[in-house]
Amino acid sequence: MILKPIFFVVLNFVTVVLLAQTTPWEVPADRNSKLSTAEFTDQNRNTGKDLYQTNCKSCHGDPGKNNIIKLVPPPPDPAAIQLQQNTDGSLHYKISEGRGAMPSFKNVLNSADIWNIIAFLRTFNKDYRQQLAVKPTFGGELFDKVELKLIADQSNTTITAQLTGIKGALVKPISGLEVKLFAVRYFGNLIVDKPMDTNIEGKALFACPKNLPGDASGNISLIAQLSNEDLFGLVKTESTMTIGLPTDRPPLNEPRALWNVVRKTPIWLLVTYLASVLIVWGFIVVVLLKLRTISKLGE
Ligand code: HEC
Repeated sequence: MILKPIFFVVLNFVTVVLLAQTTPWEVPADRNSKLSTAEFTDQNRNTGKDLYQTNCKSCHGDPGKNNIIKLVPPPPDPAAIQLQQNTDGSLHYKISEGRGAMPSFKNVLNSADIWNIIAFLRTFNKDYRQQLAVKPTFGGELFDKVELKLIADQSNTTITAQLTGIKGALVKPISGLEVKLFAVRYFGNLIVDKPMDTNIEGKALFACPKNLPGDASGNISLIAQLSNEDLFGLVKTESTMTIGLPTDRPPLNEPRALWNVVRKTPIWLLVTYLASVLIVWGFIVVVLLKLRTISKLGE
């Protein structure tokens, strides 16, 4: 019986030792060298500061004050060399993905907001000089035009957004840029899958959910859009594809809501409603009559 507590003590010891000896945090090479395409401005830094206060301060404390929360391994103070020696891309990766007690923020904050936080974190490093991502070009020359195209695969399980730069008769795939895919709904657009980066062939591959409702024939209007508008302005494309579940959606102007028109109201509801109105008014009239009698008696 004595073995059990001993076992747990040993287990605890092993976990603490394992956690304390943190293995270096590996960052994939392409993410490590990733740079922001937008220059960090005061506006970025201010937005980043607000985001830091709400999302990060509880663990990482006030930068420079070392008032961090006690965790193993500890969340580094943003002003500390440990954090500042990361490349911009490495910070972006670590904040997006998280590890252990450090939460993943890729589903909480969009890429631009993570860059805003990095812009703020860099204000605590006086040696920092921002390096900007180079705008993709055609051998140094700007593209005439940048285009996105949407293609569905045979089985409708993947939707590909193809990003190409065009210069004269030449066409070149553009890699490493984030694309978002939306389905057009009555009110606003619904994001389909998470934002994806274009690969070496300029393709961003999205998983197509099977249960996305379409119109009566299963058609869905899709919009693909480059997340970053600083590079080439707004690059987007819209295309209708038969990839949804055929759904009968009556037009919005059809009186389909249960009680939105009198002729659809159930009789019992009309009667109850009218009766209550009559009762309330009847009561008010009776009270008024009584008041008149009282005032008459007073005279
Ligand atoms: C729940 C507590 C917690 C929150 C909230 C949190 N972090 Fe962390 N963070 C940690 C811990 C713990 C580590 C150390 C993880 C490790 O090394 O395994 C860490 C590590 C990091 C690192 C890596 C440091 C390095 O040098 O490797 C960065 C960058 C970072 N956090 C930024 C942020 C930002 C930005 C936010 C807010 C958007 C945030 N963290 C929110 C706990 C937190």
